[in-house]
Amino acid sequence: MRKVVLITGASSGIGLALCSRLLAKDDELHLCLACRNLSKAGAVRDALLASHPSAQVSIVQMDVSSLRSVVQGAKEVKQKFQRLDYLYLNAGIMPNPQLNFKAFFLGIFSRNVVHMFSTAEGLLTQNDKVTADGFQEVFETNLFGHFILIRELEPLLCHSDSPSQLIWTSSRNAKKSNFSLEDIQHSKGPEPYSSSKYATDLLNVALNRNFNQKGLYSSVICPGVVLTNLTYGILPPFVWTLLLPLLWLIRFFANAFTLTPYNGAEALVWLFHQKPESLNPLTKYLSSTTGFGTNYVKDQKMDIDEDTAEKFYQTLLELEKRVRITMEKSDHPS
Ligand SMILES: NC(=O)c1ccc[n+]([C@@H]2O[C@H](COP(=O)([O-])OP(=O)(O)OC[C@H]3O[C@@H](n4cnc5c(N)ncnc54)[C@H](OP(=O)(O)O)[C@@H]3O)[C@@H](O)[C@H]2O)c1
Repeated sequence: MRKVVLITGASSGIGLALCSRLLAKDDELHLCLACRNLSKAGAVRDALLASHPSAQVSIVQMDVSSLRSVVQGAKEVKQKFQRLDYLYLNAGIMPNPQLNFKAFFLGIFSRNVVHMFSTAEGLLTQNDKVTADGFQEVFETNLFGHFILIRELEPLLCHSDSPSQLIWTSSRNAKKSNFSLEDIQHSKGPEPYSSSKYATDLLNVALNRNFNQKGLYSSVICPGVVLTNLTYGILPPFVWTLLLPLLWLIRFFANAFTLTPYNGAEALVWLFHQKPESLNPLTKYLSSTTGFGTNYVKDQKMDIDEDTAEKFYQTLLELEKRVRITMEKSDHPS
């Protein structure tokens, strides 16, 4: 039977590169592209099928910043498939990023320069907004919409015969100090992106704790610094092009400058081939590229406290309960 792989954010950047790389290894897969923009997704499907005619590629419309859209999309997935082998939780945003020039210039002359460039720690702030569902947009898109998707798809993901894998695109930018259990949406802080990615790492740990015995495993990766629509929001493409020689040089000291979506997808593809039971749930897998352009995957132990992860998971379950009651009430007003 064909393995079924569902990918959010497959319409561009790292998600799109992942699709091509998976099919280049195994064109007998069924890829299901979960995308908000159907015309973009259609063009991606046509291109993938043109280069891999024996593959199967389907599309489900899903906007992960809208819980109704997630529930509706998941319903379609359940009608199409009896099981999912892989769910890549990759869609993500970093809205209105602002570069902190002061931190940038101070960092250049500090001992932390390589770390600063690799993680963008302290360099980027964002202006978040509230979605129609009433959540912070970064939180709902990068984390909560995906959490509801997993909950909706549990019956297709949990089976004892062979395990299924959740694979999250997190970031080296995830930082403990930007996350708080008292403000899980980071509504009061300037770094919602970093908070949402730390929340992703926490949820990953809690999902393993709660789902491994049901045959479901979760992992997180960082793709490195990749030139995509997301990074073009930080600096325009022509500035990145001007910086390229410098970035290639920095690669000799910092392996995080993967730069192309193909390289950035390295850890996502690597995880596809691993036995999930053999992975350490406290490890993040980093796509990395050497100065000579060789790709590899590096392990990083995450700065995660398992009790905090469990508390966060319980908070998400509570939030889910409240959201479902609200949706039920608006669907069936008394
Ligand atoms: N680029 C980097 O350096 C970098 C570094 C660390 C982590 N990441 C992570 O990598 C992942 C992929 O990002 P990327 O760099 O490939 O950026 P990208 O090219 O902008 O791709 C983002 C993808 O997410 C989709 N998406 C965004 N909001 C969505 C929503 N509300 N509902 C459904 N889909 C939505 C986009 O769809 P549309 O095509 O419709 O916009 C697109 O397919 C993200 O999780 C990002 O945080 C990237």
